[in-house]
Amino acid sequence: MDTAVVIVGAGPAGLLLSHLLHRDGIPSIVLESRTREEVESTIRAGILEQGTVDLLVETGASERVLVDGQRHDGIELQFAGGSHRIDFARLVGRAVYLYPQHEVLKDLVERRLADSGDVRFGWAVESVTDVETSPRVVGTDTNGRPFELTADFVIGGDGSRSVTRAAVVGSMTGGYFREYPFAWFGILCEAPPSSDELIYANSPEGFALISQRSATVQRMYLQCDPEQDPAAWSDAQIWDMLQARVEGRTLVEGPIFQRDVLRFRSFVAHAMRKGRALLVGDAAHTVPPTGAKGMNLAINDVRILHESLAAFYRGAGEELLDRYEERALRRIWRAQHFSWWMTSMLHSTPDASDFDRRRQLGELEGVVASKVGSSYLAEAYTGWPHD
Ligand code: PHB
Repeated sequence: MDTAVVIVGAGPAGLLLSHLLHRDGIPSIVLESRTREEVESTIRAGILEQGTVDLLVETGASERVLVDGQRHDGIELQFAGGSHRIDFARLVGRAVYLYPQHEVLKDLVERRLADSGDVRFGWAVESVTDVETSPRVVGTDTNGRPFELTADFVIGGDGSRSVTRAAVVGSMTGGYFREYPFAWFGILCEAPPSSDELIYANSPEGFALISQRSATVQRMYLQCDPEQDPAAWSDAQIWDMLQARVEGRTLVEGPIFQRDVLRFRSFVAHAMRKGRALLVGDAAHTVPPTGAKGMNLAINDVRILHESLAAFYRGAGEELLDRYEERALRRIWRAQHFSWWMTSMLHSTPDASDFDRRRQLGELEGVVASKVGSSYLAEAYTGWPHD
């Protein structure tokens, strides 16, 4: 046996699990096909639930989130020419933090390396076998030489194109799946913030989201066709579309230095465990980004899996491991619903009828005009209490 736990993927889930296991004296090896620079510079979403932040801070994974992260006590919903604040603090007494995923990753990599953690960048996993007995992970190392590792457990934290998933589920695609007829065109621009809080805008032209990164860099999205070529639009065209979708406010424009098209998928794998192989995060499930749930769900999986593995190594047997999937799925399906609901309420679909459009505005009105409706949104967005 080379180690107790082999973790495939140095994303937030894999690195945090390795960190939490280390605190219990359980060794692990993290294998990541990309370089450290690639991992730390990948642009992903940025909203952390209060419970995610608490976990990162309490376990010593990140102190910086409380310094460099920005607390947000609400969001703005825009529709039918009006703007409505969902006041998280007043409705549910909780908040979220804007702290981009690559910052979480930098903190976790730094923490792991400071603790002499075994994180191997440039190690590509090709297959995971023998998951019922003693898992074997095979691939190529940084120099392209073959490697083979065996462990008590192998954990797939290797994202939506997970190699580990095939060993757990039996195929790459085995799961509950939904695609959407639109995508987000995301930009990073050099400009001061246009708003103190995030703006989620439903407009006749389609959805837009105004988010932030810092005093000088902003992140914004606009609904587009999934086949949209990121290079096809000029800066001026992008700004015109964003301005038209955010009503009653003029966005501060600036040079656009990064653009990407994010496809929307809802996915839950048919299984999260087979024998001694288990999946966490995007390897097991994907949500559309409208509910800002992706990284938070991954962290919740890790919280439960860590408890289960710690119990196993304390000699308490496999009872908690047997319950891992069921416990994780409860939050996953809740978040699937919330992400689907926010998405369907805020976007326009190509074949929407006049009735559909008016029904959607009725739904938004129902949310903002009702304390119960707004509270549901606020509770889900800031994160339900952990079990
Ligand atoms: C982001 O800032 O990238 C972001 C924020 C909220 C979302 C999605 C993405 O719902």
